[in-house]
Parts: sequence; C-alpha cells; structure tokens
Amino acid sequence: MELFLQFSITFLIAIVSIPFAILLVYNHKSNDCLPPGKMGFPLLGETLEFLSTGRRGNPEKFILDRVAKYSSLVFRTSLLGFTRQFSSTVLCGAAGNKFLFSNEGKLVTVWWPSSVNKIFPTSTKTSPLEESKKLRKLMLNFFKPGALHGYVGMMDTIAQRHFESSWEGKQEITMYPLAKMFTFWVACKLFLSIDDPKEVTRIADPFQVLTSGVFSVPVNLPGTAFNRAIKASNWIRNELLSIVKKRKVDLAENRATATQDILSHMLVTSDEDGQFMTETDIADKILGLLIGGHDTSSAVISFIVKYLAHLPHIYVEALMEQMEIAKSKKPGELLNWDDIQKMKYSWNVACEVLRLNPPLQGTFREATTDFVFSGFSIPKGWKLYWSANSTHKDPQCFPEPEKFDPSRFEGAGPAPYTFVPFGGGPKMCPGKEYARIEILVFMHNVLKRFRWESLISNEKIIVDPIPIPEKGLPIRLIPHHNCN
Ligand code: HEM
Repeated sequence: MELFLQFSITFLIAIVSIPFAILLVYNHKSNDCLPPGKMGFPLLGETLEFLSTGRRGNPEKFILDRVAKYSSLVFRTSLLGFTRQFSSTVLCGAAGNKFLFSNEGKLVTVWWPSSVNKIFPTSTKTSPLEESKKLRKLMLNFFKPGALHGYVGMMDTIAQRHFESSWEGKQEITMYPLAKMFTFWVACKLFLSIDDPKEVTRIADPFQVLTSGVFSVPVNLPGTAFNRAIKASNWIRNELLSIVKKRKVDLAENRATATQDILSHMLVTSDEDGQFMTETDIADKILGLLIGGHDTSSAVISFIVKYLAHLPHIYVEALMEQMEIAKSKKPGELLNWDDIQKMKYSWNVACEVLRLNPPLQGTFREATTDFVFSGFSIPKGWKLYWSANSTHKDPQCFPEPEKFDPSRFEGAGPAPYTFVPFGGGPKMCPGKEYARIEILVFMHNVLKRFRWESLISNEKIIVDPIPIPEKGLPIRLIPHHNCN
C-alpha cells in the first residue's frame, strides 16, 4: 500500500512538474563548477533511490556508484523532498569527512531535513543549532566521566533482569526486539527512572513507527510512514509531558531528587540567563534522547549477535575475554568501570560491527557561506551530507571491506576520518561513551550465559533508516551448562 502510494505520488509530481524540470536542467548547465550529479525528479529528487538501496540492504550503493560514475569525492543530488535551491551535496571519503567535521561553525552548521522538524515540532521554535547546543550542554553534565562510571552497575542490573525475564529457560528467541527492549529499558531507567518492564513496553511500541518515519519521504497523507511517525510522535510527546508534569510535583514535594535522572536534571538546571526549560521543551529533548539512546545501540547489539553466530573463532576470543572478567567477580558483584576498560577485544568486535553496519548512515550540514571543496563551488545555503559508508566500505580505507576483522582496530586503528560511526568534530555523538558501556555490558551478559546459532542463514539486512535484520534475527540458544 505504502509503495503504491509513493509510486502514485512520484508519478503525479513528475507530471505536474515538467516545466519546472526543464528550468532546472537549464540552470544546471549554466553552473559549470558546481559538483557533478543529477537532481532526479523535481521535489522528490533521488530520495526514492536513496531509500530503496537501503531497504534492499545496500545503502552504500547509492554513494559508491556516484563516486565511481563522477570520479569525484563530491556529488550533487536531491534528497528527502528538497527543492532546487536546497539540493544536497554529498562529501565523500576521509577528505569530505574531515572538511565537514572540522569546519563546523566556520563554513557549515548542523541541519536537519524538514521531515525531522515536522516529526519533532518544538525544535523549530528556535533553530536546530540552538536546540542542538542546549541538548549537548545538558548531556555533557549528565554524561560526564564520573557519572558514566556510576551507570555501569545500573546497566548491569538491568541486563541481568532482562536476561532472567526474556532469555533464561528459552530455547529460541528473536534477537532484535529483545535488543530494543534492553536498550529502551536502560534509557527509561537513566533518563526517567522508569524501570517497570510493563511501563517500559507501553512507551516503547510507538517508537518503532516514529524512527521509520524520520528519514522517509515527507508526504503527510494517511497511510504514509511519515504520517504514522507524526501521530506516534504526538502520542509519545503527550505521554512524556504528563511524566514531566508529575515529576515537577514530585520534586516540589520531595518525592523525587534533583540528581536521580536526566529528567530531574533538566527540570532543576537553568541556562546562563537563569531561564528554565519549558515542560514541552523537556518532553521534546527526552524524546530525542530516547530515540538516539536506544535504536542505534540495539542495532549494534543485534549485529554483534548475528556475526558471532557465524564466526566461531571470534566468538571464542570474545568469550575468553568476558569469562576472565566474570571469574574475577565475587558472587552477585556487578560490573564496574575497570571491567569495561578490560573489554578491549569485545570493543574491537563492536567497532567492526559499527563499521559494516553504521546505525546512522550519515547526517546533514548547511553551508553558511560560499566555499570551494575539491575544486567545486558550494553556494551558501546548500545542504551537505556526509556518509559513513563512503569510507567504511572503501577498500582504500579498509582493505577487503566486506571481511569481518576486529584486528583492524588494534594498535593505532583506522586512519583519521575513515571510521566515523559517531560522526566527528564538535557535533560528534555525545552518547558515544554511554553506548560503549551499554554494548559491552550486554556482550558480557550474553557471552557468559550462552552460545547461539542463527535460525535463518544469511538473513537479509534492511536499512530503514537504521540497519535491522529483516526477520528480527531468530536464534537458538545453547546455555553454557548444556555444552560438553
Ligand atoms: C551505537 C550507538 C550510537 C551511534 C552509532 C550514534 C551515532 C550518532 C551520529 C552519527 C550522530 C551525528 C553526528 C554528526 O552529525 O556529526 C549522533 C548524534 C547524536 N547522538 Fe548518537 N549515536 C549512538 C548512541 C547514542 C546514545 C546512546 C545517545 C544518548 C544517550 C545519543 C545521543 C545523540 C545526540 C543527542 C545527538 C545529537 C547531537 C547534536 O545535535 O549535537 N547517541 N549520534
């Protein structure tokens, strides 16, 4: 149904926009030193091809095909419903990443597609840049190193409860929904002090709908992914708003503390001018954090399980590392920061998963002034996109790019600006360390309990917009006490 709708919309737009298209072609020819590329259909641009390569499991194809075709580190396209003046330019390779990451605030600034702004409406009150600054500042306080150390034990407690309730005693499980359940539970606990599994599940369900719509074609008609995402976003924001209001009362009546979670932290922290965030703003920020804080890590966790099912020698090496740590603990003792530091091989495995399946394929920037990159002019106002796959899948950056090889991350590791799953520069993901702890805590808990086998060999990966196993990755569990 959705495919049919998208096809019909594309067709309609193509028909009514022919004069507009002629004008575009004329304009392109008149600008010789603009980056090479084509704009696809008017209004829709090349969005459908961009999204469909992802849904077919080859998100890198859209990028690498064009790099090869134009023999250029930069090409022009039009994505996610921009018009001519908002055409997007993709900067590729380590040079493109370096340029965008190190010119933040000088030549470029953060920018989100209109689809994101419609799904998260309050972010348009100021500007995406202001919103991003506000969020980063809050996160910096909440995720400072001392605080992060304290979250290790909390994440381990949730992991243990998660394995007791959803894994132990089961012969078969479906990995992806469980990974999401785990990471969402951790996020609800750390951000909102919610850890009742029933309450967590109730809030979790609409999030899937929301994520699928964030990078969809921004057509708000009944039946489209975009329309469903807006509805899901409204529902979640209302839920969060009532949680915020209740917490305000609890704080005033001493039933909650100022330091118990990120929600309290947001309510009691004022900016330089002594202004406190509004309730809606807080709900909006928490919504963003819940999305950023669980969908990405759950994809990584699922793919770790997928690769380890197929690569026994890597499984054994990761198992040995985790069992060494497990043996050093007293009964009932939780993992701590020092344990996390010892999980070097496991983190290399996770990095290799992040290289092959980056949860975020890339993000956008906007040119704040005219500049030249790689010999091509980029006019002020143009939208720019960096893509993790442009280096992650390039044999010059990572020889035999399709081979799963955690040793790439030993020693000095990959060359600068080639491994960029968390972005880079001042806008680099502020949740990186949180994600590292969460992923490693999960690896410790799964490896010390089980070995496993995939029930579907070569299960397809779809990217929508985060990579996920098409059938959710069903696996057969073999508890260690059953092994000979
Ligand atoms: C494996 C897990 C994760 C990956 C791969 C990831 C990746 C990214 C990437 C690529 C960006 C954009 C960077 C840029 O534009 O240069 C980003 C931004 C962001 N991430 Fe993450 N992320 C992960 C986990 C998390 C977690 C756990 C949180 C929160 C607890 C989080 C919160 C954020 C926020 C708030 C931003 C926006 C920052 C800004 O606007 O300046 N992320 N992330």
